[in-house]
Amino acid sequence: MTILHVTGARPNFPKAAPVIAGLAELGISQRLVHTGQHYDDRLSEVFFRELDLPRPDVNLGVGSGSHAQQTAALLTGLEAEVLSTRPELVIVYGDVNSTMAATIVSAKLGIPVAHVEAGLRSFDMSMPEEINRKVTDALSDLLFVTSPDAIAHLADEGIPADRIYFVGNPMIDTLLSQRDQLDSEAARSRLSLPEDYLVATLHRPGNVDDPEAAAELVAVVHGAAALADVVLPLHPRGRATLEALGIGDHPRVHVVEPLGYLDFMSLVSGALAVITDSGGVQEETTVLGVPCLTLRPNTERPVTITHGTNRLVTTRTIGAELHAQVTARRSNPDRSTAPAVVPPLWDGQAGARIARVIADWLDHRSAR
Ligand code: UD1
Ligand code: UDP
Repeated sequence: MTILHVTGARPNFPKAAPVIAGLAELGISQRLVHTGQHYDDRLSEVFFRELDLPRPDVNLGVGSGSHAQQTAALLTGLEAEVLSTRPELVIVYGDVNSTMAATIVSAKLGIPVAHVEAGLRSFDMSMPEEINRKVTDALSDLLFVTSPDAIAHLADEGIPADRIYFVGNPMIDTLLSQRDQLDSEAARSRLSLPEDYLVATLHRPGNVDDPEAAAELVAVVHGAAALADVVLPLHPRGRATLEALGIGDHPRVHVVEPLGYLDFMSLVSGALAVITDSGGVQEETTVLGVPCLTLRPNTERPVTITHGTNRLVTTRTIGAELHAQVTARRSNPDRSTAPAVVPPLWDGQAGARIARVIADWLDHRSAR
């Protein structure tokens, strides 16, 4: 009786680690697939070195391509893997192409699927992730949700309540378990940053693919650098476009390679504020109590606004928001103060909760 975890892209790894650890604790047999959607050391291997993650049992090496090319390679590679291992359950994470492909393959082979981070909705079908979320949730048998709004979305889409489990957020389990290792001073001095700095991450297609939108981002980052140094660990998507538009041509903008998890979270924990379009970063800043300005028209993570530090901004509104946040932060000497409110169940126990639900589900299944 084996459980198959399917991972493939950067955000999958910190979500899978606590679930794998929780199931290992219960002695459940597991196999870890890496699809190879992400393959650069900084987007993949570094997480296996730094987090409590076993080596993947197999890497399918699907690599990059258009959505159709990548999804086709994922479907073919994953079908062979699922057919040869015949797992009892396939666990998928988040909303990347590897998540959706693994779900389609498993559902068609009659293998049950558990979706970790189910029910998030931006209601923006121009995002590839929104399509991946809806397909994955429609085909999943166990849906693990990180926030109450996700339960409502799934109910609205006709998912039976007995498939939905509110378990908290495994991405935050990873952050809390690594928190003692975070060292913002050391991380910032490695990059020669001054004490006051901002962190930026930008990789959404809606922001970085179109040169006009990307030019506005460059102006935003240069504008932010008027307030403080900006460190920008640049995702490969959009790197060529942003660099051609001169994103690094400012003495206070530090464009660096994507960072390992510990360096990245260390820098975020000590930042004046974060500018991002990432999903995970909206959650992590909420738990660290660091102001987060999200350059997107919507978020599938509204709990980070209602119970956290996140604010949605546009290229027009970000200047004033950032100024206000940085001024407030500079007048508060204790930047490490834990936030008074965090979203419910973001307590570091999500992996253990998910593991218990799966263990019970396996027991019921073998009893039938
Ligand atoms: C993917 C996810 C996105 C997630 C992001 C996290 C989908 C549809 N998108 O976006 O939801 O937020 O990962 O980081 O699944 N590339 C490299 N090295 C790599 C991987 C990619 O250089 O290791 C470059 C390639 O040019 C590739 C491009 O990045 O074409 C995009 O990669 P891809 O995996 O298709 O999507 P992401 O933009 O990374
Ligand atoms: N991250 C990292 N190094 C970086 C940027 C991000 O380790 O340079 C981590 C961080 O924990 C973040 C996660 O990778 O939450 C996922 O990042 P990404 O923005 O790529 O994906 P998304 O959450 O937008 O799908």
